[in-house]
Amino acid sequence: MGFERWFNRTLNRLWGFVEDRTGMPKWALRPQPAFTFKPSYWTGAFVVNAFLYQVVSGLLLLLYYQPSTNPTLTPCGQPVGQMSSAPAAWCSTYYIVHSVPMGSLLLSTHLYGAYAMIFLAILHFYRGYYLGVYKAPREFSWMVGTLLLAVTLGMGFTGYLLPYTQLSYNATNVGIVLALRLPTLGPLLGPFILADGTSQGLLSRMFDAHVLLLPLALAALLYAHIALFESHGIAPPATSDPLQRRRYTEQDDKKHVPFVPHILFYTLKWGLLYVGVLLGIAALWPWNLPTYVGNLTAVGVVTEPDWYFLWVFKLVDFEGVTPVIAVGATTVLLLYVLFLPFLDRSKRTHPRDRPFFIWLATSLVGFFILMTVWGGETPGVQITPPDVALTLGPVFAVNAVVVAIFHLRYRRSYLRRLAARGMDYAGVYGAGSARSPPSTAPAPAAEAKPLD
Ligand code: HEM
Repeated sequence: MGFERWFNRTLNRLWGFVEDRTGMPKWALRPQPAFTFKPSYWTGAFVVNAFLYQVVSGLLLLLYYQPSTNPTLTPCGQPVGQMSSAPAAWCSTYYIVHSVPMGSLLLSTHLYGAYAMIFLAILHFYRGYYLGVYKAPREFSWMVGTLLLAVTLGMGFTGYLLPYTQLSYNATNVGIVLALRLPTLGPLLGPFILADGTSQGLLSRMFDAHVLLLPLALAALLYAHIALFESHGIAPPATSDPLQRRRYTEQDDKKHVPFVPHILFYTLKWGLLYVGVLLGIAALWPWNLPTYVGNLTAVGVVTEPDWYFLWVFKLVDFEGVTPVIAVGATTVLLLYVLFLPFLDRSKRTHPRDRPFFIWLATSLVGFFILMTVWGGETPGVQITPPDVALTLGPVFAVNAVVVAIFHLRYRRSYLRRLAARGMDYAGVYGAGSARSPPSTAPAPAAEAKPLD
């Protein structure tokens, strides 16, 4: 016990010295309320962590990778004595997998890490959507976040072509045909993506975008995203009280902890767990390199993008849906997410108060899962209007019923809890707030926990 006290005191003194000499409290991220020691409050930090892993593993891969479509003069997987005609991009990837010490692990973690980063960014987005963190004053945080998601998907798209497999080449071409159909942006993007129209031109552009332009854009947007986060602080828990939306309760306000070292170490702990799990999965299920572009002996190569683009890919299989319609629908979806803070105008952040927007989100989750499974199971198989009505219709209808039941049930139980504290419906849902009960009602106990 004596040792523990001495150890803690020494550690505190040491830390005090570091803080004093570096001036850290002035420049480190601001202190955060103690209630944020839960993973759900730091989903964005997990995305940052995944991004950092991608940067480190990507830089290591760059030591070996060659962004060239020229045939190589190395055996590159051929029987001894034969030379390969495979492109250098594919051969250098083959070399990483088969000859670089731990190369297969490195490449597999980079690929699975990309999946994880996209998945975590989507999780971070949906968490913010359900808890209404996009509402004032965080509208710009949300909009910058939407751009971050788009750039993250762009990183996935451009990285897919780099191993130069027939599979990735076919899917990239479908993606480019769709991207060029984007209204206004498509014709502008065309010359940039296609370069001189050769395969080498395309690979070079994808490489430049993947290793330089998009990471720079991501870093710049991330800087803006975190600066906005710094200026507003973390969003308080979702609430039905319009006044509480912008501030922490008095209780929470008193209990703030410094970002460095407390929050930093907390998120670092999760970050290390992430890297461990990633390495474990990559070691157990290493990625297999598909065959190269132009392999005349290859049979049955399908055209399939990575899982996060399967839904757009499947959209084109719908009867009557042209690439222009598919791209138009994707653009509308992107604009909806971007401008959501200005579409959902209510001042309450709790999901129980936003049934329409919650219904739309749960239905879209169902839609994306269904389309992704469909895209993976039956790529290229046409979907007729009756198929759409019988499969997608119920997703939206069932979600409407479930959200309506939850909305009514939770609103009723919330009103009961309000009544137990002497507050009424008008106090929270009317002009006032939960902290201004009607004059006739008994005042709530001073120490009562605030209602969310
Ligand atoms: C590459 C993708 C992204 C990264 C690296 C990122 C990073 C972060 C970080 C580090 C935070 C601080 C709080 C936390 O850790 O959760 C944050 C907060 C926030 N992010 Fe993101 N984000 C990304 C994408 C998005 C997306 C797609 C959206 C929504 C469209 C979004 C909206 C927000 C909002 C509104 C906040 C403030 C939330 C709060 O105060 O609780 N972010 N983000």
